[in-house]
Amino acid sequence: MKAVFIRRFGGNEVLEIGERPRPRLRPREVLVRIRAAAVNPRDWMVRSGTYPFRFTLPRFPIVLGGDFAGEIAAIGPGVRRFGIGEDVYGMQRAFGGFGAFAQFIAVRENVLARIPADLAVEQAAAVPLAALTAWQGLHADARLVQGERVLVNGAAGGVGSFAVQFAAAAGAKVSGVCSARNLGFVRDLGADEVIDYARRSFTEGGRQWDVIYDAIGRASWASCRSLLRPGGRYITTVPKRTDVAASLLTALPAALLPGRRYCRLVLVRSDGRELEAISKLIEAGRVRVHVEEVFPLESVARALDRSRTFHTRGKLVVRVP
Ligand SMILES: NC(=O)c1ccc[n+]([C@@H]2O[C@H](COP(=O)([O-])OP(=O)(O)OC[C@H]3O[C@@H](n4cnc5c(N)ncnc54)[C@H](OP(=O)(O)O)[C@@H]3O)[C@@H](O)[C@H]2O)c1
Repeated sequence: MKAVFIRRFGGNEVLEIGERPRPRLRPREVLVRIRAAAVNPRDWMVRSGTYPFRFTLPRFPIVLGGDFAGEIAAIGPGVRRFGIGEDVYGMQRAFGGFGAFAQFIAVRENVLARIPADLAVEQAAAVPLAALTAWQGLHADARLVQGERVLVNGAAGGVGSFAVQFAAAAGAKVSGVCSARNLGFVRDLGADEVIDYARRSFTEGGRQWDVIYDAIGRASWASCRSLLRPGGRYITTVPKRTDVAASLLTALPAALLPGRRYCRLVLVRSDGRELEAISKLIEAGRVRVHVEEVFPLESVARALDRSRTFHTRGKLVVRVP
């Protein structure tokens, strides 16, 4: 099968587009014929060897890419929820070996969900990793409650654009932080208020929120703690060392003492059931998927360069032939 892989870490010169063996199916696994895969900052971090969770990587050669959409080509023994020919999307599990920039991937059935009706395969591919990161951060980590005030930092990006929409769908009052170019985009996603970070920092002015979801990791627990109301939560996708320490220090008291502020780090997990809940919001028209550009697989280097700018609006996707 055709795949994008690396045999060593480095710049775009280490990317190879060529033939790799088709993955073999194990019990309870599904073989998906991939039509499109999302581009995430993780992909160029893996390529360059700067991915913070390097211990989860398989041995070289590593096929890049984490989340995908396509159709089921084969099922292994014990698969119950899916059949051949169904359109599915999902994210490879941690320690699963990545492998989405390829024509086929073998995944456990519990990471998959059916593609929402009327969603193009390129849009579906854009959902799993970014949306699950937003979903888990707001629900499992922040335990968001209707009517709360949520600030999303990095509101125009992959994770942030889903976080704004999930928070709005949960009945929160949402403030979105982005550049001037994206103010209208973030407002259209459902933000009640938009803040241009070049004009003023959300940390100034004495405002407070119940949840600060830092989708881009440009703030910190130290800078956000005083901006949280009693019981407030700072959730970050890019933890600094001090955030890790704060998450440990604030974990116990948060459980024991209501009203205590806490810090949590999101570590996204692949989960087909959560993806089904997200599918329902997409099908109901309450969440939309914005894909800024679809690249052919051969142009993956250009897609990774674009992702590295950290100024993507919504998501970038590669189409797999
Ligand atoms: N912990 C986890 O499990 C996990 C999971 C997924 C992602 N992540 C990490 O989360 C981060 C975001 O991922 P992503 O996929 O959302 O990236 P992305 O799509 O590349 O995000 C880019 C967005 O960040 C915004 N941005 C850039 N500089 C900013 C600033 N100073 N203040 C506010 N917004 C700013 C940009 O908006 P403007 O163009 O308007 O500036 C752009 O829309 C990455 O570092 C990624 O590695 C972690």
